[in-house]
Amino acid sequence: MHTKVYRVTEEEKNRVLNEAAQIIRRGGLLAIPTETVYGLGANALDKEAVRKIFEAKGRPQDNPLLIHIPDASWLEIYCEKIPPLAYRLAEAFWPGPLTMILKCKSCIPYETTGGLETVGVRCPDNAVTAEIIRLAGVPVAAPSANRSGHPSCTSAETVLDDFAGRIEGVVDDGPCRVGVESTILDMTEYPPKLLRPGGLSLEDIRRIIPETEMDAGICRQLREGEQPKAPGMKYRHYAPKADLQIVEGPMEQVISYINEQCAAPGKTGVICTEETREHYHAGDVKCIGSRRDELSIASHLFAILREFDEDQVDRIYSESFDTPGIGQAVMNRLLKAAGHRKIDVS
Ligand code: TXA
Ligand code: MG
Repeated sequence: MHTKVYRVTEEEKNRVLNEAAQIIRRGGLLAIPTETVYGLGANALDKEAVRKIFEAKGRPQDNPLLIHIPDASWLEIYCEKIPPLAYRLAEAFWPGPLTMILKCKSCIPYETTGGLETVGVRCPDNAVTAEIIRLAGVPVAAPSANRSGHPSCTSAETVLDDFAGRIEGVVDDGPCRVGVESTILDMTEYPPKLLRPGGLSLEDIRRIIPETEMDAGICRQLREGEQPKAPGMKYRHYAPKADLQIVEGPMEQVISYINEQCAAPGKTGVICTEETREHYHAGDVKCIGSRRDELSIASHLFAILREFDEDQVDRIYSESFDTPGIGQAVMNRLLKAAGHRKIDVS
């Protein structure tokens, strides 16, 4: 299968959007841009189409998919018992990086929900994708567009690295602005529970619902037999090929520890920030962004993890990042990528 790359230009806008929407309508796979990461999309109401997503990703069947809609008016078509607070959140944060778990109607097939009675609904902040979904006239099921276990993709080029020849098309809308996946909030109980930190911070949600709680599985590694509420959170994730470790402690000690590791034989990858870049003199040093701008750090994270794969480093050390705001999502992804291995050098 040849994977077609769609770029939306002013002159050809209608033709391109219609052709992309047709892929969804016909039951094909189309990678779509969102503000968080690229998604691997298919018609959420079509079992066969949804099966192709699992096959292309190599994703375990029990891991349900999120559905993407263009605006909150579609909620009541696919969900029921929607609490008024869900509409308050939609008004405040949609389109944007918030996914709400709601009770779903029976029109959403088993294949999409993984057999759950709930479904995660997301309204991405990307005008091209919103228009494609409107034209397709169906909600689009889309997990992050990466092979299962790999870091997510924040550009059409990296989507092609994982899926060229396996999907019908990818809509290229440039690099993703946010760079980490959406925040997942379970709205089926009160107070709502944060199941996955992401592009929208807990602090922002608490401005609307101060009682919002955090699921235990977010802050620490799950104990044996414990089940996370978002099924996908139990899998090894985001992992670069080389071993990754996170180094914590006073910054001077972190820098000198990482520099010592770079002296060892083999190729060492280093994740640092603009503030510390000049202190590293060896290794494959990548600057993720500035500590003064947490969005810069989030938006480069997955691209950097993928670059280390290409560079074929033997091991990776990363500085640690503060955890308020979107930094919480960055640390969550880094910890998962590191299999929760941290070194404390204080
Ligand atoms: O930003 C995003 O959310 C991206 C873009 C493409 O929209 N999508 C994304 O999808 O990250 P995915 O499938 O990679 O992650 C969705 C997570 C998985 O951990 C899944 O287990 C969980 O959401 N999930 C899906 N449906 C759920 C449900 N009904 N209840 C609880 N967790 C659910
Ligand atoms: Mg994913």
